[in-house]
Amino acid sequence: MTDTLQTSLPQGKMPQLRVMPMPADANVHGDVFGGWIMAQVDIAGSLPAVRRANGRVATVAVNSFVFKQPVFVGDLLSLYADIVKVGNTSITVNVEVYAERNRLQVEIVKVTEATLTYVATDENRQRRPIPPLVEE
Ligand SMILES: CC(C)(COP(=O)(O)OP(=O)(O)OC[C@H]1O[C@@H](n2cnc3c(N)ncnc32)[C@H](O)[C@@H]1OP(=O)(O)O)[C@@H](O)C(=O)NCCC(=O)NCCS
Repeated sequence: MTDTLQTSLPQGKMPQLRVMPMPADANVHGDVFGGWIMAQVDIAGSLPAVRRANGRVATVAVNSFVFKQPVFVGDLLSLYADIVKVGNTSITVNVEVYAERNRLQVEIVKVTEATLTYVATDENRQRRPIPPLVEE
């Protein structure tokens, strides 16, 4: 919990998503609703999974999800997603979310970390094998 304050975003990586929560995304206390963050994480994690599966995927499990710090309306969120495991039909992705709270003073906080598993599916929504990795 104490290692969340940083001065820069992860180096050498591109975020899958950058998004800013609006007042409509807040809970009754005015902070951003956890369910909204979970939706963004699910979208970000699905992007490398879809590329690796070369087609549609479905989220089968949220293996872990930690809200390390609150997210505030107006934070600029960067969501990074890395594949950590490829199975027969499943792909497991680690997602990290960083918030730029005050963009003029550059306060960057790691707010969320999650691991999700996606299953490659066919046109009938049934699982299908992950295709072999094609070297570029
Ligand atoms: C995704 C779906 C087609 C998978 O079908 P299934 O018959 O349950 O598939 P299986 O039990 O054989 O599991 C498929 C893969 O997912 C993995 N998996 C299943 N449950 C898991 C869990 N709780 N945690 C991690 N991995 C899991 C299995 O290990 C397997 O991986 P592998 O093939 O790489 O070894 C089916 O579960 C489904 O349609 N779920 C709903 C998906 C959805 O609508 N998601 C959106 C949110 S509502």
